[in-house]
Amino acid sequence: MTRTIYVLNGPNLNLLGQRQPEIYGHDTLKTVEDLCRANCAEGFDIRLLQSNHEGQIIDWIHEARHAACAIVINPAAYTHTSVAILDALNAFEAPVIEVHISNVHKREAFRHHSYVSLRADGVIAGLGIEGYAAAVRRVCSLLG
Ligand code: DQA
Repeated sequence: MTRTIYVLNGPNLNLLGQRQPEIYGHDTLKTVEDLCRANCAEGFDIRLLQSNHEGQIIDWIHEARHAACAIVINPAAYTHTSVAILDALNAFEAPVIEVHISNVHKREAFRHHSYVSLRADGVIAGLGIEGYAAAVRRVCSLLG
């Protein structure tokens, strides 16, 4: 069985570290990748991907059906809009953890609803990039 954890990131997260640092912090997605690897148990591997395009994220979720043992996903703004990403995740049979760097519940009302939460096995919000580390650790303990 594959032991690769897909860590998928949605739109604008390529700008992590530059974009609204008062909300998202100063760390970059490269730091997130290093953090995920550092928190990954032995025998597991990390594949961190980011796209600004909904269809690309869906294609990676489809690929994960055969190539990943779990998905950690920060869908960014698609969290609040994308039935298509929810449908793709519903076709993925292993653990899914949803991560938000900011506490979306403390922000605008449109960020309070998540389509992805209808599928996620766990949801983390407001822990900064440490939320990714917690998600990776959770997946590793779930899968042993
Ligand atoms: C985000 C929260 C979303 O509402 C927002 O659109 C993002 C990032 C977060 O990580 O806090 O782009 O998912």
